[in-house]
Amino acid sequence: MRTPDTLTLELCNTDRAPRLSATSDFRNAVLNGLNQTPKRIPCRYLYDSPGSDLFDQICTLPEYYPTRTEKEILRKNAAQIGAMIGKGARVIELGAGSGGKVDRLMDALPAPSSYLCIDISPEPLERTARAMRQRYPEIDVASLCADFLEAVALPEQPSDVDVCFFPGSTIGNFERPEATDFLRRCRSLLKPNSLMLIGVDLKKPVPLLEKAYDDAAGVTARFSLNVLARTNRELDANFDLAQFRHRARYVSEPGYVEITLVSQADQSVTVAGKVFDFDRNEPIHIENSHKYTCDEFISLARNAGYQSLGVWSDDCDLFSIHLLRAQP
Ligand code: AVI
Repeated sequence: MRTPDTLTLELCNTDRAPRLSATSDFRNAVLNGLNQTPKRIPCRYLYDSPGSDLFDQICTLPEYYPTRTEKEILRKNAAQIGAMIGKGARVIELGAGSGGKVDRLMDALPAPSSYLCIDISPEPLERTARAMRQRYPEIDVASLCADFLEAVALPEQPSDVDVCFFPGSTIGNFERPEATDFLRRCRSLLKPNSLMLIGVDLKKPVPLLEKAYDDAAGVTARFSLNVLARTNRELDANFDLAQFRHRARYVSEPGYVEITLVSQADQSVTVAGKVFDFDRNEPIHIENSHKYTCDEFISLARNAGYQSLGVWSDDCDLFSIHLLRAQP
């Protein structure tokens, strides 16, 4: 239940309606999720400051191929992608700090008109905007602190075409129907005929997938367990991290890596004054990472109202980048 002390209002952007504070959102999500069967904590809560640092480390792991492979695909094909997008584009990046990926795109575009970054966290957003202003002083750089999963009004900036850039296979963390809805919502925000350039992880042999989400150095396990540590820090909980084990396993239909934290004993945990009982081997679901064939993703995008203009992948078919056009 919401009590006045949890209803701290927080405004990131004066154009937006007031929203509950981050702590209150987290508390409600954890209490609701732990009351469900199976228990769950939504994956967006993995990314507090220690979680974001651990995710940056994941991106450099030998087993975690998506980051380096997507960069390599962009490096090799940016000229062709840039030519297909054409002159005077406004690049709208969903999520700040793509680690140099957007530079590869911007550098390949003929005379881009502007850049807009949308992210819910003010600090990475401002850091990205500052870096982009320094690197591209000749173009108009804007930032919008907003949750791009909600309806946002895009600021006016002159452009011949809008290109929404959504790298990193973040779309894979949506369930398939949610991914379709998300693409539909993006389409309704954008001008007709706008483009979407999106990174999508591909289906591949199961051992490669499972190792990418359960690395030998244990960084991904620490990333997962951090959500319990965060619950202890922020919600006065008493999870014993040694009593939960990170598990990543591939579910072949329709195709996703499922990540859970599995209780190693019968135990009780208190979170914000509420007691939750766990059986030995009971999982807490924390994330799915969906994998697609190129055809599966083209068909999902078609359902959401997009035409496929091109798909690029690496020589080992690990990862793909899709260029889509929003149908009027
Ligand atoms: C952010 N997202 C695309 C990552 C993925 O591959 O699904 C999150 C991740 N979780 C564990 N490793 C990486």
